[in-house]
Amino acid sequence: MNTVKTVRELRAAVARARSEGKRIAFVPTMGNLHSGHVALVTKASQRADFVVASVFVNPLQFGAGEDLDKYPRTLAADQEKLLQAGCHLLFAPTVDEMYPDGMTGQTRVSVPQLSEGLCGASRPGHFEGVATVVSKLFNMVQPDLAIFGEKDFQQLAVIRALVHDLNMPIQIIGEPTVRATDGLALSSRNGFLNEEQRAVAPVVYRTLSEIAGSIKQGERDFPALIGMKLQQLEAAGLRPDYLEIRHALTLRPATAQDRDLVILVAAFLGTTRLIDNLHLNLDAPV
Ligand code: PAF
Repeated sequence: MNTVKTVRELRAAVARARSEGKRIAFVPTMGNLHSGHVALVTKASQRADFVVASVFVNPLQFGAGEDLDKYPRTLAADQEKLLQAGCHLLFAPTVDEMYPDGMTGQTRVSVPQLSEGLCGASRPGHFEGVATVVSKLFNMVQPDLAIFGEKDFQQLAVIRALVHDLNMPIQIIGEPTVRATDGLALSSRNGFLNEEQRAVAPVVYRTLSEIAGSIKQGERDFPALIGMKLQQLEAAGLRPDYLEIRHALTLRPATAQDRDLVILVAAFLGTTRLIDNLHLNLDAPV
């Protein structure tokens, strides 16, 4: 696996693979890779002949007071994991390489509606930062397909929309969330949890599963159900940011008649913000 740091080297390496008739898959990441990322790269190597990954902690998607500075940077370990997972090319640019003219005047990509509410409400500008960097990366790599984790459900919806709306010829594939045996969704931010918090954290997914269970059994009073489960999260010591039931495709608030649902949560455990979701399609075969 080759690691390149400049757009020029990246383009040259991808062009070589393309000239050999290879199909290109792309896995964008912010590094500090765990088994969830490895699953994305493994899927990429099953779907394409040449796998490109990126590691870039994108300042544009972090708000003031968020964890940009303490976000873990572990490039050597990431390189090892990517190599093992079948990655062919790693793009690990500096901030200057990605934003050579600074970020203030940088053209932005904004996806209305889907970016609003949920994480968009508590992290203003976050999805504009994500949509902008992903658009730039897509233009640099020009992959045939790109793979993202379903753990960031709203992010995936935003990226699908931008690719559709801007006519980018890239297939977007969502890969199921990888969980620890106790249900906690793997995340680079889990490393911020102390032992006591880590023991509490599985309540997040347990809560989502219980809500899904109640809906499957016919419960349709969503506000009451959510109110009860918010209390459960608070009683466990979390500070919920949101817990909502939405329509899985449009992300608008779900009605009692909707069949394709997603339950989404964001909650603070100490200073660590955990997010998770559970997709529940009531018409899917069991
Ligand atoms: O999900 C992430 O790791 C990031 O938001 C992404 C998509 C790599 C953009 O910086």
